[in-house]
Amino acid sequence: MEILVSPDPAATARRAADVVLAGLARRPGRDPVLGLATGSSPLGLYQELGRAVAEGRADFSTAHGIALDEYVGLPPGHPEGYRQVLLREVCDVIGLSPDRLAVPDGSATDEASLVAAATAYEERIAALGGVDVQILGIGANGHLGFNEPGSALASRTRVKRLSERTRRDNARFFTGLDDVPTHCLTQGLGTILGARRLVLVATGDGKADAVAAALEGPLTASVPASVLQWHPDTVVCLDEAAAAGLRGRQYYDDSAAGLPSR
Ligand code: GLP
Repeated sequence: MEILVSPDPAATARRAADVVLAGLARRPGRDPVLGLATGSSPLGLYQELGRAVAEGRADFSTAHGIALDEYVGLPPGHPEGYRQVLLREVCDVIGLSPDRLAVPDGSATDEASLVAAATAYEERIAALGGVDVQILGIGANGHLGFNEPGSALASRTRVKRLSERTRRDNARFFTGLDDVPTHCLTQGLGTILGARRLVLVATGDGKADAVAAALEGPLTASVPASVLQWHPDTVVCLDEAAAAGLRGRQYYDDSAAGLPSR
């Protein structure tokens, strides 16, 4: 794991954008496949990617976007459905074609249709040759995507129940807690681990405990984001507040400085 701590959220977003672009540049000649997270954490990163496009340093016109998750049971076109959120917060900002945005289809409410939608989503990712760079946020309870505590470390895309903590955290986007869906379709932790590079962005002191547990605690389904420790190319971009609980901070900073110059 590479753990990069920046002074503030703006600097964290700039650094994360550089890490994403470097990851995509590793596979030239192929349409990039970018894994997209919703939530407030990656918004600055998306703005920075948009800036890179405007400055001619990046081009997402041939890229594919793969969402991490979607609510179950929201009517198509609901403004808080993750397809609509990603159209607003990513496609419009970085010039990604809406035709090339894949989001799990959570519009059905019966189990058989949702199981079929989950299978279709895994097949879609496989048909694209996998995700090159997966952008991630972390829930205050350590969730990744919507993989709540207790999620199997090798899980694939499936229906999950949202925890009450997550529903309360996300109630701010709805008219009230009762309107927040109880279920979702989410890439599994095993699906996420299949991406070639994982980039986690976390800022603010509200994430400090979850970040410390995920990066320095045991690998456990109780802290789903601890699977980041298992992946060979995880880059974690934090601001000072989100990094406040890390015990190994000095070593991470020394490592980020690279080899000594001669
Ligand atoms: C939602 C998303 C997650 C995201 C989390 C944190 O639950 N499904 O992918 O990481 O929110 O959101 P925020 O970045 O707003 O704290």
